[in-house]
Amino acid sequence: MSSTLLIKVPDQNELNTGLAKHLLELYGDYKIVLCYAPMGAGKTTLIKEFCKALGSTDNFGSPTYSIVNEYKYPGGKIFHFDLYRLKNKEELMDLGIEEYLDSGHYCFFEWPELAEDLIKSKYKKIEIEVNENIRYLRVSNK
Ligand SMILES: Nc1ncnc2c1ncn2[C@@H]1O[C@H](COP(=O)(O)OP(=O)(O)O)[C@@H](O)[C@H]1O
Ligand SMILES: [Mg+2]
Repeated sequence: MSSTLLIKVPDQNELNTGLAKHLLELYGDYKIVLCYAPMGAGKTTLIKEFCKALGSTDNFGSPTYSIVNEYKYPGGKIFHFDLYRLKNKEELMDLGIEEYLDSGHYCFFEWPELAEDLIKSKYKKIEIEVNENIRYLRVSNK
């Protein structure tokens, strides 16, 4: 089934754990989530909200320098990737990307372009657009 959901997010308060929870309920069996958006659009913020919605109480950082962060939640592990600094697919393979993708754990990606081709299972795609301080989330299944 292919469907796209467009959500209007007027301000920070509305991009909250409640919205993330709702999205998880709608797409609970999708454990791989690719977030596409320009710098500063809110990818890290959204992924943290997903982690909180899953019940994680870890200290969330931004994996810009580490490429991948690992968090715990009551159901297992969450991997949070930021591929911005990676230059090519070899670097992604060196990171062990295939094991992460096959792990069955949640994998959230910022700057996911390099990883796209390596994903063999279904995944969820979230695009964030910002227009005059209003954010739009376009959520679709792949
Ligand atoms: N829904 C939102 N409304 C208003 N500001 C937001 C929202 N989401 C994120 N921000 C703010 O935008 C800035 C960049 O967010 P961040 O999540 O780091 O973006 P990205 O990871 O896409 O570069 C942060 O200061 C954050 O607080
Ligand atoms: Mg970020």
